Parts: sequence; C-alpha cells; structure tokens
Amino acid sequence: MKRIVILISGRGSNMEAVVRACAAEDWPARVVAVISNRPGAAGLDFARSCGIEAEVVDHRAYADRLTFDQALAAALDRHRPDLVVLAGFMRVLGAGFVQRYEGRLLNIHPSLLPSFPGLHTHQRALQAGCKIAGATVHFVTPELDHGPVVVQAAVPVLPGDDEASLSARVLQAEHQIYPLAIRWFVQGLLQVQEGVVRQTAGEAQQGWFGP
Ligand code: GRF
Repeated sequence: MKRIVILISGRGSNMEAVVRACAAEDWPARVVAVISNRPGAAGLDFARSCGIEAEVVDHRAYADRLTFDQALAAALDRHRPDLVVLAGFMRVLGAGFVQRYEGRLLNIHPSLLPSFPGLHTHQRALQAGCKIAGATVHFVTPELDHGPVVVQAAVPVLPGDDEASLSARVLQAEHQIYPLAIRWFVQGLLQVQEGVVRQTAGEAQQGWFGP
C-alpha cells in the first residue's frame, strides 16, 4: 500500500479529485495526509471530512525559504510518503527539498509545458493568441515547472474565452489527468529514462478535452 501526501495552498479541487479516484478505483494506495501552507485553505475541510489527517505548515512562521522547507520536510516525513503530490501548492520549493523527494514528487501545472511556466498561465496563453491550451503533470526538478512530463491534456481556446472560462475548462482536464498520473505511479507503471517518462502498460499519455 503506497502512502500519498498531498500539498495544497487553497481550494484543493485537484486534491479532491485524487482522493475520490483513489477510493473509487481501489488503488494500491492511500492518501495519508494533506498539508497546507495556508491555514485558511478550503481543501483542508474536505480532507478532514474524509478522515484524512490535515495539517498546516504556515510559511509565514518561518524566516526564510530554507527553514520553511525544512519544517515542511519534517512534517512530510512523519507520514512516511511514497509519493508527494503538489496540488495547487503555491510556494516555490528549494533545490534541497526537491532533491530529497526526487522521483516521488509530482506537480500539475495549468499549461502545456514547456510553454508558460510560472504564474498567470491562462492570461498569457490568451494574450499570445493560443488556440490550444492545457495542463501538464510532471515530476518535479529544481527548476520551476520543469521536469519529466508524465501526461498532458489539451483543450481548445474558444472565441470569447476569458481567464475564467479558459481556466475552468483546463481545470476539468486537470481533474482527469492528475488522478491518472498518480494511479500509474502507485501501480509502478512509470519509467523515466533520460528525462522522458514512459507509461509501461502502453496507456496514452495525452488527451484532448474538446470537440
Ligand atoms: C490548478 O489550476 C493547478 O494546476 C494550479 O493551481 C490550481 C489549483 O487548483 N497549480 P486547486 O487548488 O487544485 O483547485
């Protein structure tokens, strides 16, 4: 039974999708804890309502990134995670932290990486006149929003889209691909070779969510 810990900062809808899929699809895994860096994160309530341990490591209580990273790692390690899932976790993690969990640290980013790493992805995609947007699940490496791509979902950018409509469409796709990637991980179906991830059962590592 693999032990999953999910890190959030807010709403936690991706965390919720993962928790639901883990139960519904009977994964060989359990979400053992949800940790937020923000005390008011709405996702903490959902986790508690499912009987999952929900904790806060408030970044404002630490003088700098290194001491916050150390406190977060200490909280994480108490749960002995096989996999750490970043789900809307809005703090940049230092290289030491990332290296400690390398190979068992996943992130979801709301763009088709390597396009638009960082913040305001939907706004930037709209400004660039993109016709396709999407989301990426990737293994985390010290460089922000980089790292081996596990699965990508593409959605159309429709005439009249604004940031809200586009982000809602991408988010629906996120809720499909994040549980998928995590299931593959806990089933031992992911192989990384020279920065390229292969799904060893041959399932498609991309999806189109549109007409
Ligand atoms: C998602 O779009 C995720 O890709 C991004 O932040 C958002 C978090 O949403 N990193 P939620 O907290 O999972 O609802």
